[in-house]
Amino acid sequence: MHVDLYEKIWMWAAAAIIVVFLASIGFTTFGRAIQPPSHVEMIDPDSVRGDREFGSPGVTIHEDGSVTVVVQAFMYAFLPNEIRVPRGRPVTFRLTSPDVIHGFQIVQTNGNTMVVPGYVSQFTTTFSQAGDYLIVCNEYCGLGHHVMHARLIVEDGVTAGRGGGR
Ligand code: CUA
Repeated sequence: MHVDLYEKIWMWAAAAIIVVFLASIGFTTFGRAIQPPSHVEMIDPDSVRGDREFGSPGVTIHEDGSVTVVVQAFMYAFLPNEIRVPRGRPVTFRLTSPDVIHGFQIVQTNGNTMVVPGYVSQFTTTFSQAGDYLIVCNEYCGLGHHVMHARLIVEDGVTAGRGGGR
């Protein structure tokens, strides 16, 4: 069968592009361990309010300087609704919802995740600028969606202990 030269070139080019795409997926997945989080940690939505961790959400500053922020997102608020964290330290957010899907977006930062009932959403980020940040729910969750918000205060020089709270 005769295949025109230009057609051959395009066939090989298309095949090469597919190989490059598949290789890049393989590289990011296995080489860099970049994967969308899924089914990592599950929790019964009905037990969230009595849970050891999520039943008393808040900010914990560990001895090594790292910070964990446990947040409950529900219709139509976040708990705690005022979160204080130190500047320049890794802050790990752990979130879940006892009711429906919510969003958790720290405006003007790269902190942004969905909060899905049945799952624990977790991400770690470091805030380099002190200040007052707005946290909003960015998933439509019902009639009070537009009022669902909280406040993040990034401050200089916070000592170890438990802060934040509601
Ligand atoms: Cu919660 Cu929208």
